[in-house]
Amino acid sequence: MIESVARTKSYCAVEWKEGHLRYLDQRKLPREERYVEATTESDVAEAIRSLAIRGAPLIGIAAAYGIVLAVQRLPEDADPAMLRVRVERALTLLGSTRPTAANLFWALDRMRKVFDRVGTGNIETLRSRLLDEAMRIHREDEEQCRRIGEFGTQLLPLAATVLTHCNTGGLATGGIGTAQGILATAWRSHKLKHVYVDETRPLFQGARLTAWELSKLHIPFTLITDSTAPFLMQRGIITAIIVGADRIARNGDTANKIGTYGLAVLAHHHGIPFYVAAPRSTIDPAVPDGEAIPIEQRSADEVTRPFGLQLAPDGVDVYSPAFDITPHGLISAIITEAGVVKPPYEFLEHSRGA
Ligand code: MRU
Repeated sequence: MIESVARTKSYCAVEWKEGHLRYLDQRKLPREERYVEATTESDVAEAIRSLAIRGAPLIGIAAAYGIVLAVQRLPEDADPAMLRVRVERALTLLGSTRPTAANLFWALDRMRKVFDRVGTGNIETLRSRLLDEAMRIHREDEEQCRRIGEFGTQLLPLAATVLTHCNTGGLATGGIGTAQGILATAWRSHKLKHVYVDETRPLFQGARLTAWELSKLHIPFTLITDSTAPFLMQRGIITAIIVGADRIARNGDTANKIGTYGLAVLAHHHGIPFYVAAPRSTIDPAVPDGEAIPIEQRSADEVTRPFGLQLAPDGVDVYSPAFDITPHGLISAIITEAGVVKPPYEFLEHSRGA
């Protein structure tokens, strides 16, 4: 049940509660743990767009609840045509929030299938089936994280020192996390010695969120600037690199937070294993390779004035892709809830979950 998601963590990134979506506003972390209630699909879309809710699997879960909210306030005798328009609009709105996260489209597709199956005849039945499906997506992700954690831990040697990038923990998923789920599991299994956390510019998901989560889990870590990572590798300090993914193409090319590709190139140069951890819902069977993955562009302000602090002159030209593409040839293995996959990655075409 969903309640078990809350029990495994001292915080809850998203939670269905008394007919609304309660979420932890990640923009405020680590200064403030503020929970917010989303009561409409527009609230959810705005939370995802503004990164109050973020991380590919969590975006998918939240969007699914957004579809529930879209039908929730309609009267029992709502006109079927209006109901259909309402759901279609909600699917489009939520699907327009973050273009790279495959889990978003995967989750919306599952919600659409429920709508198509149940139809507009009985709004009460439709509401309850949509909520069941959203909760199922949430629960499944929790279980998938647990399995990714176990599979990934088996790959690590004893006393591993792991470098990670961005945030892939309970704040980014419905469970213990993907890459970070492996760190948590390896720590409990006494296989992990230390974690190095990239601060992850420009929005500092590593410094703000991963550092916050690892502190809560009492996992020993050191925060580094992104540009320190190569030096640590050169010094032989890093045993393995584990990152998450926002979208994985059929051939294994992977979109993840900007900076991931550089880490993969460096890992290759230094002979360090580079692992990608993600549920199969992140694999997009419609995308043959990394070239075809849409890359979200972020606003100039996030670079020139991060968190309101002016760092660059106003009006300067800024290029700020949110993600980059790591070619499959640089990835030592992809860890999913179904196991560890090593190159070649052609099988990915047939491997997506439900
Ligand atoms: O822009 P964000 O913060 O949503 O980016 C998140 C990432 O890039 C994560 O590494 C990825 O979603 C995997 S989360 C389990």
